[in-house]
Amino acid sequence: MKRLGVNIDHVATLRNARGEFHPDPVQAAKFAQKKGADSITIHLREDRRHIKDFDAKKICSIKNLFVNLEISIKNEIVKKALKIKPNYICIVPENRKEITTEGGLNLKKNNNNIKSIIKLFKEKKIRTSLFINPSIQDILISKKLGTDCVEIHTGRFANLVKSKKSIKKEFLRIKKCAKLADNIGLKVHAGHGLDYKSTQLLSKIKEIEEFNIGHFIIGESIFFGFRNVINKFKKIIKS
Ligand code: PXP
Repeated sequence: MKRLGVNIDHVATLRNARGEFHPDPVQAAKFAQKKGADSITIHLREDRRHIKDFDAKKICSIKNLFVNLEISIKNEIVKKALKIKPNYICIVPENRKEITTEGGLNLKKNNNNIKSIIKLFKEKKIRTSLFINPSIQDILISKKLGTDCVEIHTGRFANLVKSKKSIKKEFLRIKKCAKLADNIGLKVHAGHGLDYKSTQLLSKIKEIEEFNIGHFIIGESIFFGFRNVINKFKKIIKS
């Protein structure tokens, strides 16, 4: 059964635009869980542009809520995450100037660092994931680094779908990576830039067990409501 992780970073973006308390990401996390989200994803960025430390702390302390905390490899963030104790972590690349996470991790460059971060979280029984590009080489390196899961960056695929360009090559690339990862014992997740159509297409890849979706869910909720959008995604990933 595929799972839906709802990324609520942009509830915080909206709240921060006013510098006040509404809409509250804690309320969004509880609401999304009640309406069928299998987990909640939040990204504690180095610049704290959306989720703040107090959000992460509160959200990770909600009972019976599975929280996937996205973190960079920066020492300060790693230390904070170990203290906050989410259920899961996903290590992502971070670049101050980017609008959103633009690509997967550079595993070769950060090999030792990532390996020791994974070890720290595994010692605390926290599930680990690496956000990577759909690359055979990165799947193989991920396995060597000892992660439990990989999250395949679907940004390029999602953009091809949105611009109605040919998706065949990128779809097959993702499928091949997902199959290899599954074969060597890694759990496979997917995320970034997904909407209904791209999620529906990728749902056909049976090895993908979890989708993490944020911006489209929050944006679409303005028109159709958070509950309805979550429901629609649940139906799509089940079909
Ligand atoms: N997965 C990861 C690892 C991400 O960094 C992000 C963006 O924060 C997402 C999924 C969600 O992407 P989007 O907001 O485009 O759905």
